[in-house]
Amino acid sequence: MSRPFYLTTAIYYANGAPHIGHAYEVIAADVIARFNRLIGKQVFFLTGTDEHGIKVQKTALAQGTSPKTYVDDIAAVYRQEWAYLNVTHDRFIRTTDPEHYELVTRLWNKLVEKGDIYKAQYTGTYCPIREAFLTDRELKLMQDTGEDMSKLEAVTEENYFFRLSNYKDRVREFIETHETFILPAYRRNEVLNQLEDLADISVSRSKKSVSWGIPVPGDDEQVIYVWIDALSNYLTGLDWGVDDAAAKERFEEYWPPNVQVIGKDIMRFHAIYWPAMLMAADLPLPEHLLVHGFITVADTKISKSLGNVITPKDLVDRFELPNVDPIRYYFLATTPFGQDGSYTDDDFKAKVNADLANNLGNLLNRTLNMTKKYFDGAVPSFSKDYQGLIDISELNPIREHYDNYRFSEAMQSIMGFVDRANKYINEKEPWTLHKEEKLEQLGDVIYAILDSLRQVAILLYPVCPSLTKDLWAQLGFDMDLDQADWRWINGMLTPVGQHTRLGEPVLPRLESEIVGTGGKKK
Ligand code: MSP
Repeated sequence: MSRPFYLTTAIYYANGAPHIGHAYEVIAADVIARFNRLIGKQVFFLTGTDEHGIKVQKTALAQGTSPKTYVDDIAAVYRQEWAYLNVTHDRFIRTTDPEHYELVTRLWNKLVEKGDIYKAQYTGTYCPIREAFLTDRELKLMQDTGEDMSKLEAVTEENYFFRLSNYKDRVREFIETHETFILPAYRRNEVLNQLEDLADISVSRSKKSVSWGIPVPGDDEQVIYVWIDALSNYLTGLDWGVDDAAAKERFEEYWPPNVQVIGKDIMRFHAIYWPAMLMAADLPLPEHLLVHGFITVADTKISKSLGNVITPKDLVDRFELPNVDPIRYYFLATTPFGQDGSYTDDDFKAKVNADLANNLGNLLNRTLNMTKKYFDGAVPSFSKDYQGLIDISELNPIREHYDNYRFSEAMQSIMGFVDRANKYINEKEPWTLHKEEKLEQLGDVIYAILDSLRQVAILLYPVCPSLTKDLWAQLGFDMDLDQADWRWINGMLTPVGQHTRLGEPVLPRLESEIVGTGGKKK
C-alpha cells in the first residue's frame, strides 16, 4: 500500500459564520480526500478553527461575552456547516483545544532551545484584519490600491523574534529545487519576491495589546503570535511530540502533509514562515501547498460591510436544492483551480441545470424509463457484440486531472461521457429497435447506457457524493458508494437482471426566480 495521505485546509478565523468562499476551500479539500480514498489511499484529513487573536478578542468584547464563549459558538457553527457540506474530515482542530496549547508550548520551547528566538524592541505597522505586521511592500500596495488604512496600528513593543534570517536561504533553496511545492507553479515567483523583503519576524505580542492567546512559556507578559499558534495546528492534528506510542507511530506514518490547501491571501505564511518553523523543528516539509483563488460575488469581494455574503444554506434555500452537491459541483466545475471564480445566481442556475439536471438527470431518467418499459425494470443481457461507451484509455486522463487538482477539467471530461451517452440514445433510437423487435440490439444499447451511468457515478462521486449515491441506488446497486474503489469503474459490470429503481429525478431543474443578493452579471 502507498504512503498514507495527510491533507489539511487552512483553519478558519472564528469571527463569523463561513460563506461560500470558505466553503469552496473545504469542498476542494473534501474532493481530494474522497478521490484519494477512492484510489485506495489511507487519508487523514484535518480542518478546524483559528480562535485566538485581537479580532476575536474585540468582537467578543463588543458582544459583551467572553472570547471562549464566543469561539465555542462559532466552532459549533463551523462543525455544523462542514457536516452540512458533507465534508469527511477526520479531525476538527480548535486552537483553544488543550492539546494544541501544549503543542504550541512544546514547539516554542524547541525553537528557544535551538537559539532561534530572542527578545528585542520592535516598531512596526500592525494590521488587525490580517493579524500581521506589514512589510513596506504591503503598505505601499495598500496605498496604491486605495485600501482602507484606518484600522492600521503603529506598534512599539518589546517582543520575541524568530530568526527567520537563519532559514531564509534554505527556504529559498527548497522552493527553487521543489518545483511542485507551490501549486499552481505560477505562484512561486510571488513567494520568491516576498522572501526578499523579510527580516526576522515578531512572534509574540504584549498581553497589554492582545491577551487572547497562548502565553509565552516563562513570560507572563507576552502571548504567542496568532500565526505561529495557527500554523502549528497542522502538527497538533497528528499529535506531534505527544508521549504515546500509537500517536508517535501515526505521526511517523503520516508526516509530512501531502497537500495543504490554502487561499492565495495566506501564501506567505505557508510558503515562508511555516517551512522555516518546520526547519527549525527539524521536521520534513509538506509536499504540496495547493493555493486556490478567491470566490467573489459578481466580481466583487465578499464582505460583510458590502452586504453580499452568501452562505451555502442561502443557495440551498434560494434554489430549493435537495442537497449541497450542486454547490460543490458548480464551484469546482466552473473555476479552474488556482484562479479566482465569480459567483452569480444566473451562472449557478445555468450551469447546474445544463450539466446536472438536464445532461445527467435526463440521461438517468430516460434510460430507467426505457429499462422499465422494455425490460420490466431489469438490466437486460448483452450480446457478444456488446461494446461499452467509455473506453478504458479515457479513464486515466480523468484520474490524472483529479490527481493534479484540475477539477474543472475532470468535470468537463465526465460531462463529455454523459453527453456521449445522450447522443448515443438519439442515434440508436431504442424505441425503433423495440418497434422492430430487434431485442438483442435493444439490450446492448440499454445495457451500454446503464453501465456508463454506473461508471459516471463513481467518477463523479468525489464531487457529488449525495447525487451519485441516489443515482447508484436507482441503478439498483446496494453496495455503499462510499466504499467504492476506482478499479470498479472498469473492473466490474452492472449485473444482468439487477432491478433498477426508477425514482424521483436526482436533481430537479432549478426554476426559482432570483430574489437574493447573489448579483446579476454586470
Ligand atoms: N485563520 C487564517 C488561516 C490560518 S491557517 C494556519 C485565515 N482564516 S480565514 O478564515 O480568513 O480564511 C481561511 C481560508 O479561507 C483561507 O485559505 C482563505 O484564503 C479562504 N477564504 C476566505 N475567503 C475566501 C474567498 N472569498 N474565496 C476563497 N477562499 C477564501 O486566513
